[in-house]
Amino acid sequence: MNISVEQTIHLTTKNTQLSLLVLDSGHLLLGYFGKKIGEVSLAYVVEEIQRASYMADTDGIKDFKLEQLPNLYPAFGNPDLRTPAHLERDASGSAIADFRYKSHSFSNEKKPLKELPYCQSQEDVTTLTIILEDALTKNELAITLSAFEKQDVFTQSVCYHNHSEATIQIENMQSLSLDFLSDRFDLITLNGAWGRETKINRRPLVQGIQGVDSKRGASGHGQNPFIALVDPQTNDEQGTAIACSLLYSGNFQASAEVDMHQNTRLQIGINPFQFSWELVSGDSFTTPEAVFFYTDQGLNTLSQTFHRFYQNCLLRGPWAKKSRPVLLNSWETFYFDFNREKLEKLAEKAKEIGIECFVVDDGWFSKRADSSSSLGDWVPNEAKLGGSLTDVIQSIHQKKMLFGLWLEPEMVSPDSDLYRNHPDWIIQSPGRTPQLIREQYVLDLSLKEVQDHLIVVLTTLLKTYKIDYIKWDMNRNMTDLWSGGLPENRQNELAHRYILGLYRILEEVTQAFPHVLFESCAGGGGRFDPGMLYYMPQTWTSDDSDAISRLSIQEGTSFVYPPVAMSCHVSAVPNHQLGRMTSLNTRTTVAQQGNFGYELDLNQLSKSEEDELKQQIVSYKKERETLQFGIHYRLSPYDKNQVAWQKKNEKTGDIIVSHVTILVQPNTVQKRLKLEGLNPQASYSFENTVRTGSELMEIGLMIPRPSHDFYASQWFLKKVKE
Ligand code: GLA
Repeated sequence: MNISVEQTIHLTTKNTQLSLLVLDSGHLLLGYFGKKIGEVSLAYVVEEIQRASYMADTDGIKDFKLEQLPNLYPAFGNPDLRTPAHLERDASGSAIADFRYKSHSFSNEKKPLKELPYCQSQEDVTTLTIILEDALTKNELAITLSAFEKQDVFTQSVCYHNHSEATIQIENMQSLSLDFLSDRFDLITLNGAWGRETKINRRPLVQGIQGVDSKRGASGHGQNPFIALVDPQTNDEQGTAIACSLLYSGNFQASAEVDMHQNTRLQIGINPFQFSWELVSGDSFTTPEAVFFYTDQGLNTLSQTFHRFYQNCLLRGPWAKKSRPVLLNSWETFYFDFNREKLEKLAEKAKEIGIECFVVDDGWFSKRADSSSSLGDWVPNEAKLGGSLTDVIQSIHQKKMLFGLWLEPEMVSPDSDLYRNHPDWIIQSPGRTPQLIREQYVLDLSLKEVQDHLIVVLTTLLKTYKIDYIKWDMNRNMTDLWSGGLPENRQNELAHRYILGLYRILEEVTQAFPHVLFESCAGGGGRFDPGMLYYMPQTWTSDDSDAISRLSIQEGTSFVYPPVAMSCHVSAVPNHQLGRMTSLNTRTTVAQQGNFGYELDLNQLSKSEEDELKQQIVSYKKERETLQFGIHYRLSPYDKNQVAWQKKNEKTGDIIVSHVTILVQPNTVQKRLKLEGLNPQASYSFENTVRTGSELMEIGLMIPRPSHDFYASQWFLKKVKE
């Protein structure tokens, strides 16, 4: 192609490399992204691209086809007619912009992001900032790329500076846009619905746009702000993959666009649907941060890279690295139907059994007896609690358990004092009846007075009572989008301003009470995303607590998120969502994949169940370090009727293997399960046997014959000799 490369800029991590090319025209290209190959000049990669027909020339140069080149952050208005990463509109109505390279600089720090979650590290980080400028307006795009050396991970955020006199409307600004000169990829996304979140969805790319997005005001149950392109041959154990995740909890999009010449554009960012942002002269706009990386070590490494990175560089506060307590939650135990006597009886038993945190879920406040009232009125119902909340908390603390409480701060019931006093604080459109979902409205968190009110209510609650844990719920999505606080030309800012308002509240409250363990929830995993994890280090994974449903939900969630961030509880049988019967052993094995707890009436257990449960808690506490923070591997059992996973304690080398057969079948011969990531020379002891790491990885463990459906087995392997 008739182009010439002026400079190559390399940004590397321990094993990977991102190389950018600046053309003499000022266009910025992605020269290379993959395994480390050294600081070579990569000009030939784009210079050798042969011209295809029927595309616009660039800058009047025949044979300079920008649309065929791997652009790094293409704005609309240039001859590249694929989906742009940036689109703005000026006062004339023109959406043409033309950003060219102006300068770049390196630093050894990772700066905080204004009003948004971001990753940071004490270890080596190199940050590359590239400034692109539009010569006509003098407006600038600052692309900030950070390389986390030891983590093998990159982050990117883009900031738009309006240096002109005029006001600009931003209509699309993605966090990341990468072009690859191939379409030989499978696309992986996480999809589902309420009660069946995060199924791993893998399919080959086809020409056109494919991906996931949310228009619900939250990241949502149906899709997760994550996307990966992987080689069709890639599996858990080997192969290449490029993964992207977005630190954002609202409307997002993640897409792969295959063009007519088998090139792929990968993007992730705020959903441009119903989004715009008015940027006045002198102002700036920053996108959420995207996290992305390349691996050639397969999908287990992809998941482990996310786990390590989010564990070390995203989760904050004293709880980030601390063992999480075994918890009992009152929701599936009593729903709304409890009183002091019931709570006391449950707490007595909880203490006896070894529970460490006792959580009172929905129903403790105002006159809330079902979902029809009281959200917004966060005042303890002393009649129901048989005294003050302080009394209840004291009684739990006397039993040497932590005390936890459920809240849904972003919502209001029509039947509440908060709504009666402030009917204008909800999201609603003028002249229209706002829609109810679960009998509640969404508070307009873009309004400063609503944010301030919630900060005062929450900090007062946490100052008044000795609360150790908060479950922060959010049980409906947004409809009727319109805000009384915004002029008509800024209404498309509401969904993003809501998230910025939410982040402000979360920052104030979680930073003021760092000892409190916050758990996020949105009807289960309706907002299980890295944005929420920045403020709250764990999330309720799904409202479906059935052990068999949880196999795929937890497999999908832990595809990206650290298992310790994933709350998993043992609930009663028949299961309340599905009516399925599973053994206590199976429910426990599955719940121990993540952050373990219970959600059932302990007083309904038989003596033998109670003894089994006590034993499970004793053994869980012994193995907690490995189960919560161990390196997580998906193992490949023989067929789809089985699921298996493994945890490896990085310090001791101890291994815990879990296996579930879903349906028992007649006349089958059991197969073996090969382990992963062991030291081949080391010896491991279990069940009166000693085997080497090599044997366990090459020959594997014999899976016991299941005696009934939903049959779980676990192996605890101690590393005895290096
Ligand atoms: C949501 C949560 C549940 C429970 C209820 C209470 O559905 O996901 O765990 O807290 O709200 O209303």
